[in-house]
Formats: sequence, structure tokens, C-alpha cells
Amino acid sequence: TWTPDAFVDTTVSELKEKIGDDKVILGLSGGVDSTVAAVLLHKAIGENLYCIFVDNGLLRKNEFQSVLTQYEGMGLNVKGVNASARFLDELAGENDPEKKRKIIGRVFIEVFDDESHLVEDAKWLAQGTIYPDVIESVSATGGPSATIKSHHNVGGLPDYMKLDVVEPLRMLFKDEVRRVGASMGIDPELLGRHPFPGPGLAIRILGDITPEKVSILQEVDAIFVNGLKEWGLYDKVWQAGAMLLPVNSVGVMGDERTYEKCVALRAVESTDGMTADWVNLPYEFLQKTSNDIINKVRGVNRVVYDISSKPPATIEWE
Ligand code: XMP
Repeated sequence: TWTPDAFVDTTVSELKEKIGDDKVILGLSGGVDSTVAAVLLHKAIGENLYCIFVDNGLLRKNEFQSVLTQYEGMGLNVKGVNASARFLDELAGENDPEKKRKIIGRVFIEVFDDESHLVEDAKWLAQGTIYPDVIESVSATGGPSATIKSHHNVGGLPDYMKLDVVEPLRMLFKDEVRRVGASMGIDPELLGRHPFPGPGLAIRILGDITPEKVSILQEVDAIFVNGLKEWGLYDKVWQAGAMLLPVNSVGVMGDERTYEKCVALRAVESTDGMTADWVNLPYEFLQKTSNDIINKVRGVNRVVYDISSKPPATIEWE
């Protein structure tokens, strides 16, 4: 029978055998899969694992610094790369959701390629691919890797994509990845994190992105997500986040008329993200959260709660 401890033992010795004294590059995202893959590889090859964690400027509030510190505390050889300005510059003025995704995908590849060139003589690219990703990428429409390559079909592949690929989690389902992570002592809070999309807050800011909109949404999102944790609701929800709508509405503050932004909160139950149901959060929680957001976040005067299921409404609004 499969146990996480046995998986760790076997995989670590296989990785040692396969990789020897070679250098390996791995992109960390802050998510469960890349973190578990990194810790496994670190156990096998130590400092020869070079982790790269890119800040695209579209992460949650304080996320980059706090996750980076956590990675360092785990002993990983990790480099944090702040590329926020580069991403936000390239996104400026773009309204179309798919074009925003493409820009983010392309800039990520450029930044990651630049960084991987700094690791001399790297032989391997490690990825936190899990079994459902493997299935998805062989499906007829092409999965994430197909999309990545389409961004870069001018001038051939970036150099890091020519490295040999090592994917220690490719036979595992998500719950097995979490169990493997737990058996290696990874913080349960990190292992229990909600999914977060690669393009981050870019697809939760409807329309064009500005640094000001990003910081408004980071504040709103932090109040919502921290509230879920304080109320013991976080683990009952599969994914949660806030959307900044391209809508201003009228409000009053004191004797003044305001004309400010509206945010939508979304919390869903799901097993794999393919279908989802909105979560029946307690009214008291929604009431408190809405008041906190409107009182604390300048520029927002209205909060709505999304009560749409998927299908047809996707989890993200873009
Ligand atoms: P939707 O919005 O399609 O989302 O119902 C389903 C799941 O996928 C995530 N998602 C993405 N993840 N890149 C990602 O890495 C993307 O472009 C992207 N779009 C959606 C979403 O957060 C949810 O978990």
C-alpha cells in the first residue's frame, strides 16, 4: 500500500541516483505543488536545487515577502525576484482577459529565463506537475504547457525549456501531494492554502490594471481572507477571493456624495475547480466583512456577494 513516508524514501533515492551532482532549477509559486516538489528535491540534492520565486506584482497583500521568508526558513536555496514593475508596465492599458494572460505568461518566461541563465551549468528543470496536469496536457486541446509554448514560438524555446525535466509528483493526486508534504514537516497552513491562479489579481481586476487598483484589491482581499480564517471558515471553502469591478456607484459619506468602486466577493465549494457552488457564508460574517471593507479601504463604497454557480459562471470573473 502507498504511504507518504515510503513515497518520500523511494523518491529521494531515485532523485539522487538520477541527478547526481547536477544543478536543478525550479520555479516556486507559493502553492502546494511547487513547494512539495522543492522540499523533496532539497532532501535529495540540497544546495544544488536553485529555486526561483518571481513577484509579478499581482500576488496577495504581503504574500511575496511572507512566503519567501517561509521558504528560507525551510532551508531552501531560493532567490526572490521582484519583477512587479516589469509586469505592470507591460500590462498597462490592456483590457482583454486573454491578452492579459498572454502578457503575464510571456513576461514570466522572460524573467525566468533571465534568472535561470544566472545558474551556471544547470542540467535540469524541476516542475511540480501532478497527475491531473499530466492528463490535462495530453488532452486534445492542449494543457498549460501547450499554452506556454504558444507564447514563445518566435525565435524558438527559451533556454530553460531545453533543460531535462524532472517531475517528482507526476503520479500523485492533490491529496497525496498534501500528505507527502505533511510527512516532510511542511507547515499545514501552507499545505491547506486555497488555489490561486497564475495570473493572480490580474484576472480579478476587470478591465485594465493599474498599481492603484492592485493595491485596492489587495486590501479588500486581505480583509476577506483573514476574516474567513478568523471565523474558522477558511478550511470549509475551496477557493475565495475578491473582484474589483469596472463600475463606480453613488454613495454617501457624511454629507458628501461619493462615486466610488464596487467589489464582488466570491467563495466556492468544489473538488477540482471544474464545477463549483457558491458557499452559503453566514450573514453576520458577510455583514462584518462588508463594513470592514467599506470603512477601511479608500475608494470602495459598495460590496456585493457572488451567488452564481459554475457552470455557467466561472470561478474567476475573467
Ligand atoms: P475558472 O475561473 O475557469 O477557474 O472557473 C477554475 C480554476 O482555475 C483557476 N484559474 C487559473 N489558473 N491560470 C491559472 O493558473 C489561469 O489563467 C487561470 N484561470 C483560472 C481558478 O483560480 C480556479 O481555481
